[in-house]
Amino acid sequence: MTVKVPPLKCQGIKTKLAEWIKDHAALERDGTWFEPFMGSGVVGFNIRPSRAVFADINPHIINFYNAIKRGDITPGLAREFLEHEGAQLQAKGESYYYEIRERFNQAGSSLDMLFLNRACFNGVMRFNRKGQFNVPFGHKPQRFAKAYITKIANQIKYVQQATSQYDWQFACKDFRKVIPDARQGDFIYCDPPYIGRHVDYFNAWSEKDEQELYELLSAAQAKFILSTWHSNRFRSNPAIEKYAYRFTILTREHFYHVGASEENRNPMLEAIVLNYNPLLPVEMEVEKQLALFDKNNPEIRYVIQTPIKSQEAP
Ligand SMILES: C[S@@+](CC[C@H](N)C(=O)[O-])C[C@H]1O[C@@H](n2cnc3c(N)ncnc32)[C@H](O)[C@@H]1O
Repeated sequence: MTVKVPPLKCQGIKTKLAEWIKDHAALERDGTWFEPFMGSGVVGFNIRPSRAVFADINPHIINFYNAIKRGDITPGLAREFLEHEGAQLQAKGESYYYEIRERFNQAGSSLDMLFLNRACFNGVMRFNRKGQFNVPFGHKPQRFAKAYITKIANQIKYVQQATSQYDWQFACKDFRKVIPDARQGDFIYCDPPYIGRHVDYFNAWSEKDEQELYELLSAAQAKFILSTWHSNRFRSNPAIEKYAYRFTILTREHFYHVGASEENRNPMLEAIVLNYNPLLPVEMEVEKQLALFDKNNPEIRYVIQTPIKSQEAP
């Protein structure tokens, strides 16, 4: 599968894991896809369900996709905008980036959001305690070359076509207002912030949030997949032992890349938690994983490892 990359990027983007998640997602034919933590939307966008509710607490993400859906942002308009702003950035350099950042924080334009997301350091979204975008400049004044703009315009085109072809809703809501709407036959894909990582205005995630999410998912009639982390070299995710052990857990090794050198590759065991049996045969390596937890716990149904090596920017 060639993964289609969406026009907006965010921390924890699941581009490298989208195929794995897709392989295990069990959406019924007439069911609705619920994605309460859409972020970039890369998972659902690659599944292309005919009905979907994409939601996020971050209004800038939702405004951006609703603008595409309404036709306020088209591939042509985005191209024109990025050509104009890209030329200004090239001429004026860093100060122009900060001018746009200020403009975005005053007025919240979705096109400015796109510009910042692609010109900022590491291509992420981060907001300070006042909800203002605060990522510094990525130091590439020539960022918006023709080929790069074409790539972004095509990413917008992909979403534009899908929103005209399918029934996709984009809603700015807390997950507690989204998950209860899912019915039997629907499917819920959850990718909440990981506790302690990427904390910012829209990514604060507490023990209470984690617990409430598991409670809602446990009560859901729909099937679900929850993405989380399982363990790294130093520790394992306490939520697996506390809440997820009752479900099916699949894991996969994933390499986060910090800097260029080999030593900076940090292996992380990513997990998906499912409330049904895996759809595909999986390679089992139970012993190694169970060693992390209580081997005598009879309630652990599966802990399965399917290792792959991939790279992703941190
Ligand atoms: C890890 S990111 C999702 C990444 C996404 N799966 C992707 O591949 O791009 C988590 C998202 O959850 C959103 N979020 C954080 N707290 C939330 C809440 N209480 N309700 C809904 N969304 C929330 C954040 O704004 C962020 O976009």
